[in-house]
Amino acid sequence: MKKITDSVSWVGKIDWELRKFHGDEYSTHRGSSYNSYLVQDKKTVLIDTVWAPFSKEFVETLDKVIELEEIDYIVANHAEIDHSGALPEILKKIPGTPVYCTANGVKSLKGHYHEDWNFQVVKTGDTLSLGAKELVFIEAPMLHWPDSMMCYLTNENILFSNDAFGQHYASEFLFNDLVDQNELYTEALKYYANILTPFSSLVVKKIEEVLSLGLPVNYICPSHGIIWRDNPAQIVQKYLEWAQSYKENRITLVYDTMWEGTRTLAEALARGIQRADPSVEVKLYNLAKTDKNDVIADVFRSKGILVGSPTINRGILTSIAGFLEELKGLGFKGKKAGAFGCYGWSGESLKLIVHGLKDCGFDLVGEGIRVLWRPDDVSLQAAEQFGEEFARAVQ
Ligand code: FEO
Repeated sequence: MKKITDSVSWVGKIDWELRKFHGDEYSTHRGSSYNSYLVQDKKTVLIDTVWAPFSKEFVETLDKVIELEEIDYIVANHAEIDHSGALPEILKKIPGTPVYCTANGVKSLKGHYHEDWNFQVVKTGDTLSLGAKELVFIEAPMLHWPDSMMCYLTNENILFSNDAFGQHYASEFLFNDLVDQNELYTEALKYYANILTPFSSLVVKKIEEVLSLGLPVNYICPSHGIIWRDNPAQIVQKYLEWAQSYKENRITLVYDTMWEGTRTLAEALARGIQRADPSVEVKLYNLAKTDKNDVIADVFRSKGILVGSPTINRGILTSIAGFLEELKGLGFKGKKAGAFGCYGWSGESLKLIVHGLKDCGFDLVGEGIRVLWRPDDVSLQAAEQFGEEFARAVQ
């Protein structure tokens, strides 16, 4: 247990070992945490729990902090199992305890656990009195699941934001001002880019809605990573920036290659970009050798991307095919893109990548560059020239 204020404690689990999240979909180089909070007033409420593998440990630890029977209410801000995973374990110990969640939360929780717990459905503006303080519920559908919800604790001025404003970042420090700021923001941005990008328009609306309530916020307590106590508005401002077609002066080249032809094209493109605009930061990634979530964070930061693959069996290499599929789901806005690739005979890769990039919603620059066999000096010069055109087009 770690104290946040006199009446609010962190009772979650820091998962230092976690290296993959959402199955194997999301890399977590710095681990994560599943934040659970205990609010003790005249009534005691537990807000969210932890991922199922830690459920026994969680309940045993909680049992040392408080008599479990003293917990009057449980709030399930979100049904995803990294936060609801210990509900079966704790509700075995204190059956019948009311579980406050949204209507969609009931559906998700029943869907996961096939249990008919004592659900109490809440909507935005509903309150739960704890004594001197009360919890105010704020639905946040599709941020990032239909059931997602936040709650606000009056008097303490704490927003329990669940996944929003979180980071997959394990730290024994509890608060944002105590940790390495570069690590913190690297993880916060990667989390936004990989998880929240598809919901950016809702992020802006929800932040505007919460700001319009005029509630003072001393702490933002997310369900992963550190708590924002030093100027918590800083992460809200960042989210508003990130949610509005965010880009920096950066171009990212993502490719895969079989016999180095497409790699040399990528490098020639980068030379051309640099020549046309020496101020732009250029990043090159062979996707087969690079963590895709880190690459997506760089795509998020970029004003333009170039994607390359050689042709194989009339198609493209699987790393690039999977990447395009993921980009389509994320739905980045306001970015330009181009394609490139080598081929030996049929040469479909360029056309397929162009089609994929359009499908992802990128604004295509030129027709891309396609080279038969290994690029010679003439082809490399053409690639450099396309790089220059691309740099000028994204300025
Ligand atoms: Fe951290 Fe959507 O669960």
